[in-house]
Amino acid sequence: QITPIILCGGSGTRLWPLSRKAYPKQFQSIFGGDTLFQASARRVSGTAEGIAFRPPVAVTGSDFRFIVAEQLMALGIDPGAILIEPSGRSTAPAVLAAALHVAAADPGAILLVVPSDHVMGQTEAFHAAVAAGAEAAMRGDLVTFGVVPDRAETGYGYLRLPRAPGEAVEAMRLEAFVEKPAEADAERMIADGRHLWNAGIFLFRARDLLVAYARHAPDLTAPVGAAVEGAVPDLGFLRLAPGPWEGCAEISIDYAVMERAENLSVVPLRGGWSDLGSWEAVLNDSARDARGVATHGAATAIDCDDSLLRSETGAVHLVGLGLRNVIAVATEDAVVVVDRARSQEVRTIVEHLKSEG
Ligand code: GDD
Ligand code: MG
Repeated sequence: QITPIILCGGSGTRLWPLSRKAYPKQFQSIFGGDTLFQASARRVSGTAEGIAFRPPVAVTGSDFRFIVAEQLMALGIDPGAILIEPSGRSTAPAVLAAALHVAAADPGAILLVVPSDHVMGQTEAFHAAVAAGAEAAMRGDLVTFGVVPDRAETGYGYLRLPRAPGEAVEAMRLEAFVEKPAEADAERMIADGRHLWNAGIFLFRARDLLVAYARHAPDLTAPVGAAVEGAVPDLGFLRLAPGPWEGCAEISIDYAVMERAENLSVVPLRGGWSDLGSWEAVLNDSARDARGVATHGAATAIDCDDSLLRSETGAVHLVGLGLRNVIAVATEDAVVVVDRARSQEVRTIVEHLKSEG
């Protein structure tokens, strides 16, 4: 039995203007159908490959609580709990809060932490990897999942294996975890063939994780513990106590725990994985025509190459003529047109607009 922890409090600013402060990307349907959050929840529900998933614990911000509840309800998934963070403190406090919440009833519970901003190919391959990881978790390891890298991406974590991974879906001891390396380091790690990308999915027993926090991130233990103890039920949500929460550092679980822990394992994750971190990633994951163009909604490309044209609203017909390596996204009240090579910089647009007031 596995208890999923779904992290869904991020802001996703690189997918502006589709991803908005009030409605970030994980709650949007990027390719039609389920939203990214719903697809994540569906992947960790029911039973599969000998795994039985318990009701998930979602951790999110106050602004998103009704979206989370509605999107789960639409799937017929009953959440075990929806924890509300008084403010976004990145993933280390969020995971710790969820782990403490579950551990209070069952310290031996196996937790599967999943992000909500990913696209995955075959669910069966994911479940097979989780089943293999569960064995290592039962031995006390903190288990990560590794994706074969195809470029020196600096926005991911890197997992150093003792040797190049074979085809087997099995847990291997990890030599090191390197979060968001400098470009030169990423290139070196790609070249040596024994690094995988961290998929951002983690599996461990609740009590083993608590030991790891106590050892590697002791400053978080007291404030997060107090926030969970002082949590107040509110309309089916559980509001973490704001006072102690404000005392938490803003840090991700990758930096706070994974880079420092020694009992790490990795299971290679095959069958497709993509972090829809940027419009470039969305383009790469979209169905494209022979000239590398993807359109979505009311969008027409004429004589274009390697471009993405998306209209997120029936009210705007987006037309591109003679474009190359351009990303254009239209919503009801904003249009972005960006050089494809600079799609990571879309997040700066939000800051820019804020500073203009
Ligand atoms: N509840 C909550 N609160 N969720 C959050 C918060 C927060 O403050 N911040 C982020 N999240 C959620 C996001 O919505 C996302 O689903 C997940 O946590 C991961 O956060 P990201 O901010 O997207 O992390 P990242 O992409 O920079 O890096 C992580 O994922 C990479 C793979 O996509 C790391 O684990 C990397 O090592 C990894 O390679
Ligand atoms: Mg991400």
